[in-house]
Amino acid sequence: MTNPNLMLIPEMLVPRLGEHLVKQGHISDDDLKKALAYQQERKTSGNILLIGQTLLELNIVSKDLLDRAITEQILQLRSALQDTNRNLEQHVLERTAELQNALEKLSDLSELKTNFISNISHELRTPLTVIKGYLDLLVTESLGGINEEQKEAVEISRQATIRLESLVEDLIMVSISSRGELTLNRKIIDIRPIAHLAVEAVSNKAEDREVSVVEVLDEVLPTIHADKQKLTWVLGQLLDNGIKFTPAGGRVELRIEQEGEKLISIIVSDTGIGIPVGRLNELFRPFHQLDNAASRRYGGMGLGLLLVQQIVEAHGSMLDINSVEGRGTTIKFPLLAASEIKE
Ligand SMILES: Nc1ncnc2c1ncn2[C@@H]1O[C@H](COP(=O)(O)OP(=O)(O)OP(=O)(O)O)[C@@H](O)[C@H]1O
Ligand SMILES: [Mg+2]
Repeated sequence: MTNPNLMLIPEMLVPRLGEHLVKQGHISDDDLKKALAYQQERKTSGNILLIGQTLLELNIVSKDLLDRAITEQILQLRSALQDTNRNLEQHVLERTAELQNALEKLSDLSELKTNFISNISHELRTPLTVIKGYLDLLVTESLGGINEEQKEAVEISRQATIRLESLVEDLIMVSISSRGELTLNRKIIDIRPIAHLAVEAVSNKAEDREVSVVEVLDEVLPTIHADKQKLTWVLGQLLDNGIKFTPAGGRVELRIEQEGEKLISIIVSDTGIGIPVGRLNELFRPFHQLDNAASRRYGGMGLGLLLVQQIVEAHGSMLDINSVEGRGTTIKFPLLAASEIKE
């Protein structure tokens, strides 16, 4: 049998019904006191009654009046809830607007930074071209003869200018890609001559550092659909890192092989210092080098790999990096054979 004391009744929904009835003038203070005393009495004999039930039992209120009072109170509660909801919505709207504002400020700042990098790089490019032009004329003695010592000084300045030029080009590329404007000029190309060129371009540097650079290319490779200039740059950057982070006597390898019918794999590996476990995610932070910034043992701006990643991803591929500290690093990415590209 159901215990009537445990039955669900509307009165359970409203708090302090007795006080409400007094406030509304439906019962007096004395009526309420009388009912509370009776309620207590019933409780000691094992019957738990709510105040409304008690008032009803004592005939102080009618069933109708009680229902009306409970309904009134539920309506009041509902309207209070609606008010709270409205306030909450307003609060959420205000907070969202504040966050939107903060986001806009942040993106303004980031745009300012990108524009700053972009403007400054373009401004640096013009005078650099002039300097390099004159150094070229001097070193080839087009402006008159110079002695060996002078020639060496001019040649060193020319090399430094070339390095500066490539830094400025990197900065320009960073600003372009951080504005999401990195566009590819894709054509059907043969990767083999590009690989030769990239290896040739770093051979002097490798020789200076006593690091050997070898290329291992499959005899026949399918053509690919890629941006020749940017891909050459990517190979150059990966080889440059390999040479830079490999001590004298070490070896850097550029391997390109066919994988199945549809893919080629480009793999640049070195026997260098490697990358500590757990620091792979730092490789793509702009202007960041793993080496302690204060010691700056290795030159560079910490931009190369970020741009390599952006260019490789723009080609629909991704970098796979494997490295063992003290043993060396291997960076690999696949490219689709041109016959597989559907345009
Ligand atoms: N082959 C590698 N072996 C060991 N560490 C590497 C290698 N390649 C990259 N790194 C680490 O990742 C960092 C970022 O490389 P990234 O090419 O972006 O910058 P960088 O070579 O220092 O400067 P930049 O390329 O702008 O001249 C490097 O400073 C180095 O700490
Ligand atoms: Mg680099």
